[in-house]
Order: sequence, then C-alpha cells, then structure tokens
Amino acid sequence: MATTPRTTSDGSRAWPPADHHYSLLQRCRSLYHGLWFRLSEGIRWSRRPCYETPIGCLSGLAAWQITRIDELHARYNVGFEDHYNHHTALANYAYLDLLDQAWASANRPVPQGTAVTDVGCANFWYARTLHAFFRPATLTGVDVEGFRLYPTGHSRYDAACGYIADLPQTSFLVADYCTVENRADVITAWFPFVTPSPVLAWRLPLTLFFPEPLFDRIARNLTPQGLFFMVNQGSEEAAVAAAYCRRAGLSLVDQWVHPCPLRARPHPPVASWWSV
Ligand SMILES: C[S@@+](CC[C@H](N)C(=O)[O-])C[C@H]1O[C@@H](n2cnc3c(N)ncnc32)[C@H](O)[C@@H]1O
Repeated sequence: MATTPRTTSDGSRAWPPADHHYSLLQRCRSLYHGLWFRLSEGIRWSRRPCYETPIGCLSGLAAWQITRIDELHARYNVGFEDHYNHHTALANYAYLDLLDQAWASANRPVPQGTAVTDVGCANFWYARTLHAFFRPATLTGVDVEGFRLYPTGHSRYDAACGYIADLPQTSFLVADYCTVENRADVITAWFPFVTPSPVLAWRLPLTLFFPEPLFDRIARNLTPQGLFFMVNQGSEEAAVAAAYCRRAGLSLVDQWVHPCPLRARPHPPVASWWSV
C-alpha cells in the first residue's frame, strides 16, 4: 500500500525525504532555483494569454515523418502547424503519435468522454493533443510552477491560457498535485520527476521533489475503473517510476516502449498503464 511521506511534528512534509541524499552542489543549485521559484510564485506575474505564431507548414522533415504526420492529421483531424511554431507543432505530433501507437499496441479501447487530468503539465503546450485523443468531458492540467517568467515578458500562466483558450472544458491549475483532490477516470503524467537530477535541470528546487506523495495522490484521485497513463524517459527511469506506482498501491496493466519516436529523444519513451 502507499508509503507515508516523512512528516514533521506539525504534520508537514519533511525535506529532504528520508531516502534521498543530496550533494552540496545539488543543495546550492536547489537553493538558487528555490529563490526564483518563490519569487515567481509571490509575484504571480500575468499579462494576458499569449499565442504562438503558427508556422503554417512544417518543413525539413524526413519522408517517414511526413507520412506519419499525414496519418495523424487524417485520423484525428488536427493541424498543429495552424496553431503553433515548428517546435511545438512537431512536439504535439510526437505526443499524439505516442498515444496513438501505444493504445493500438496495447489493444485497449481509448476512454473517451471522461474526466482527464494531466499531472505536471508545464505550460500545457500539449493540451490540444490530449483533447484530440481522449475527447474528454473535462481536461485539467496541473503544475506546481505557474508563473515562471519567459524572455517575452509572459509567464507560464499566460502561455497555458493561450494553449487552452479554444479547447472546451479545459483548465490549467497551478497547484502542488500532492494536495489536489480531483477524481479522474484518466490521469496522465508525461515524464514526471522520479529522480532528483531532472528537477534541477528544469530549474526547480529539490524541495519540490516528493515522488511518494505525488504517486499516492494519483492513486487516490483515480476512479475505481480509471487508468493512470505514464510516459518515462528510458527503461531505467521507467523502473524507478514503476516502484513508486507499486508503493502507492497501483497495479501494472501494460507497458510499451516506443521503437521510433517521431521526434528524436535521448532515451526511448516508455509508456505504461496502471489501475487501482
Ligand atoms: C519533466 S517536466 C514534464 C513536463 C510536461 N509533462 C512535458 O511533457 O513537457 C515535470 C513537470 O512536473 C511539474 N511538477 C513537479 N512536481 C509537481 C507537483 N507536485 N505537482 C504538480 N506539478 C509538478 C514540474 O513543474 C514540471 O513542469
């Protein structure tokens, strides 16, 4: 069953978690990122929704990528290049390709018309992909960091508002998911933090690294027939994430490794399905 996070006498979570030991350098970087994180959360800077300039037509792709994108285009009636720049459009096709191939390979019906939550959605740049694939009744993206400031003068919040602006029943919630009580039939997590190094690479403080309570909360928020769909970077990270899932009381339903991602990645994405 779920592990209990180490708690202090006042009931809050203690840091660092009992089983993580950080080097001096990691602690210094964490302090620095923590300053910026607290500053951005204190100011909560927001101007207005910001939108990308659509590229209109993707270029510089290999023939197999064009063929695959055409297939996705036809199957899901999406044209990410009509909304986003080259990078975001291609990244959306890559996430949609993964969803499409993973579900097909697992031969399971796609749960459509249900409540979907994405945990750790960043600025929710892939909300349109989740919308096209799950056709959800509601779609909620949750991220603990909402107000990182971009060089454009817009915040992550502004970007998220732009990405979800024309998607029905879709919202972006700035919150620590460990504290979110929101039942969902489908919970997705793309590359959740399960080791400390990526937390620092994302310029976040290690005080945000609490995988145990995060996975506990996923298990608690999943409806009895619900599915947790997770994507990890390579098999090593997937194994670490799987251990957290099991500790939270989740059971593995299926697993699939992408043989040829539409967008190159350092490690093959590993998709897995979990139930309570
Ligand atoms: C590696 S990033 C992945 C971002 C996104 N899923 C993607 O595929 O681009 C992990 C994200 O999880 C968020 N995160 C970490 N801990 C969280 C928590 N407790 N609650 C909500 N979001 C969290 C981070 O802020 C970060 O945006």
